[in-house]
Amino acid sequence: MNDVADLRAKHLAAIAAAGDEAALEEVRLAAIGKKGEVALALRGLGAMSPEERQVAGPALNALRDEIVSALAAARAALSDAALSARLAAEWLDVSLPPRPAAQGTIHPVSQVMDEMAAIFADLGFAVAEGPQVEDDWHNFDALNIAPEHPARQEHDTFYMARAGGDNRPPHVLRTHTSPVQIRAMQAGGVPIRVIAPGRVYRADYDQTHTPMFHQLEGLAIDRDVTMANLKWVLEEFCRAMFEVDGVELKFRASHFPFTEPSAEVDIRCSWKDGQLRIGEGDDWLEILGSGMVHPKVLASAGVDPDVWQGFAFGLGVDRIAMLKYGIPDLRAFFDSDLRWLRHYGFAALDVPTLQAGISR
Ligand code: PHE
Repeated sequence: MNDVADLRAKHLAAIAAAGDEAALEEVRLAAIGKKGEVALALRGLGAMSPEERQVAGPALNALRDEIVSALAAARAALSDAALSARLAAEWLDVSLPPRPAAQGTIHPVSQVMDEMAAIFADLGFAVAEGPQVEDDWHNFDALNIAPEHPARQEHDTFYMARAGGDNRPPHVLRTHTSPVQIRAMQAGGVPIRVIAPGRVYRADYDQTHTPMFHQLEGLAIDRDVTMANLKWVLEEFCRAMFEVDGVELKFRASHFPFTEPSAEVDIRCSWKDGQLRIGEGDDWLEILGSGMVHPKVLASAGVDPDVWQGFAFGLGVDRIAMLKYGIPDLRAFFDSDLRWLRHYGFAALDVPTLQAGISR
């Protein structure tokens, strides 16, 4: 039975050589498929003499069984190999440390605003807000700045465009936070003690001026609030803000249409090796405008100036951030440069409080 031995050698070798499922299927068809060599040989048994059949029959049947099991074994080996390859390629090391997620920082302006809010909260001031697109009346008229008043030009105001034929007075990008004085008194009446931190806008651009910057307004109205209270509040504020006990403030007579009398406040400081020191030295640095709220302003907000009086102040938040954290150029505050933010920014969990420290 050389024939059977040849068939066996040929097909088993083909099975061993098959590298994938498709090749195995080809071998199966060629050997035991309907027209496969082994199948045809089995069909040829009927034409044989009984003696021949007795020898060839069992040999061919055994060969067919052997090929079926060799095919099954080869298939199993192929899928084992595929699984091993996947396991080798897709393994996951669960002991690797996680990749650090990019972490943001708190912008110095936000941090300083939070520091200021914490300090003034301790002094009994609530936080008030107003719109950044403000009407002419709240930004100017109600604050005793008449239409012809030079302050309107001094403020380098951004005016909002009006549709043609719309002759209502213009809206502006608020040039200061003082309109929030009016809105807070209109909304809550008096007595009142509020601060209003926020963005303000003026058409100005150099190392210490940007078209958008931040102010913090303060307002305290009661029956007997005086300039002495203003001085104490501002001194307490600076002591906490700059974290030095010996803060010295100088009140300089000034003029604002919405306060009478008015004062600008300077803080004693020195520049040593490019380092600013608050509370010592012979230099003075202007940090805010202030005064006793003008009776006309109280009246605009519906408050009787014969009964109520008090102080207001407006300080430059960005400037105080520059002073406190030694940041030389205001423009970099708003460039959104991540390197700058990482350098000057604050960790998200360093929340300023008077108990735990204003700036950590
Ligand atoms: N609004 C003034 C400014 O922008 C500052 C100020 C506020 C002055 C309140 C006096 C009282 O310059």
